Amino acid sequence: MELNRRTVIAGAAAAGIAATTLGTGSAEAASGGRKPVKELFGKLADGTKVYRWSLENGGTRLRVLNWGGVVQGLEIPDRKGHYANVSLGFDNIDDYVAKTPYFGALIGRYGNRIAKGQFTLDGKSYQLSVNDGDNSLHGGKQGFDKHIWDVEPFTKGSDVGLHLHYTSVDGEMGYPGTLRAKVTYTLTKHGDWRIDYEATTDKATVVNLTSHVYWNLGGEGTGTIEDHELSIAAGRYTPTDSGLIPTGELAKVAGTPFDFRKTKSIGRDIRAGHVQQVQAKGYDHNWVLDKGITAKPEHVATLRDPRSGRTLKIATDQPGLQFYSGNFLDGTLTGTGGHTYRQGDALCLETQHFPDAPNHPNFPSTVLRPGQTYRTSTIHTFGC
Ligand code: BGC
Repeated sequence: MELNRRTVIAGAAAAGIAATTLGTGSAEAASGGRKPVKELFGKLADGTKVYRWSLENGGTRLRVLNWGGVVQGLEIPDRKGHYANVSLGFDNIDDYVAKTPYFGALIGRYGNRIAKGQFTLDGKSYQLSVNDGDNSLHGGKQGFDKHIWDVEPFTKGSDVGLHLHYTSVDGEMGYPGTLRAKVTYTLTKHGDWRIDYEATTDKATVVNLTSHVYWNLGGEGTGTIEDHELSIAAGRYTPTDSGLIPTGELAKVAGTPFDFRKTKSIGRDIRAGHVQQVQAKGYDHNWVLDKGITAKPEHVATLRDPRSGRTLKIATDQPGLQFYSGNFLDGTLTGTGGHTYRQGDALCLETQHFPDAPNHPNFPSTVLRPGQTYRTSTIHTFGC
């Protein structure tokens, strides 16, 4: 049986465990959440202070850094009401600066890869910062994940959240135009985590913002996600070359390991030997969502950990979903809870436009022009 968040909170309260298991915020959550609280997390080498914001609503607890808008922790209960931090991260800023593979970070200006860091727009060619072999990945050497964002907490009705602002100057990482980005993290009274992205520019540019949370619904540091069950509402995906750049084809998932239209465990076909999996060391592809671009977020994927019962449902207005099965985690990073992260110890589900779209006229456009506002939303709904 899948319980929704309200059932669990009501059940836990009835069992008298609210204060110990759910934390003191749960009572307030029912009446509109707890005001975000700020504390010092650490300092950058130049002395800049990095703060951590903690917020809670509807039974979900979120910890966010002003550095990269990083989700440093996200705690949700299992079917018995026991909380776990289900997102990979570090307990100190130095590790984020020195070695994070984008744990929990906001990604910009462009989620995923742009081939050779090059594209042409309105007849003009641009060279971006290259940081992944010959290619530009997640915005280049110093993407949005490696900047301090201005953070403004809010409570609105029964919602609590944070507005995060970052202005990327004209030419930063090679991208044209000054891009003003605003990202809003909202925790609703049902414990949903919603992300609303907005951006404007003063010159024609390309933009593709996303969030890079590494999920392990069993809890970070508890081992593999291969037994997690996943469904993705997509009949096609974008195959890549050996540098993980899309070839331009929208290939059918039918009859391949990429078919997640019916729920299956991630481990079931991950070693199927398909050439696309061999070159990516697992799943690291963009699924072409059947619904396409929509005016409002629609459900596109469900992830479930059978052991804890925790579930994550993703709804988005975006046309693509990058499912990355943590292939490059290699046992060299020690996370928040003191455990080492190994290959496949987490997965990412990044809602987005397609990788390398600026070089593929057949992909939905990522061009943003002066006078337009880039707006996209993704909602994470948790259950157990
Ligand atoms: C990409 C992977 C990459 C990872 C960064 C994902 O979005 O698809 O190829 O290695 O981010 O850690």
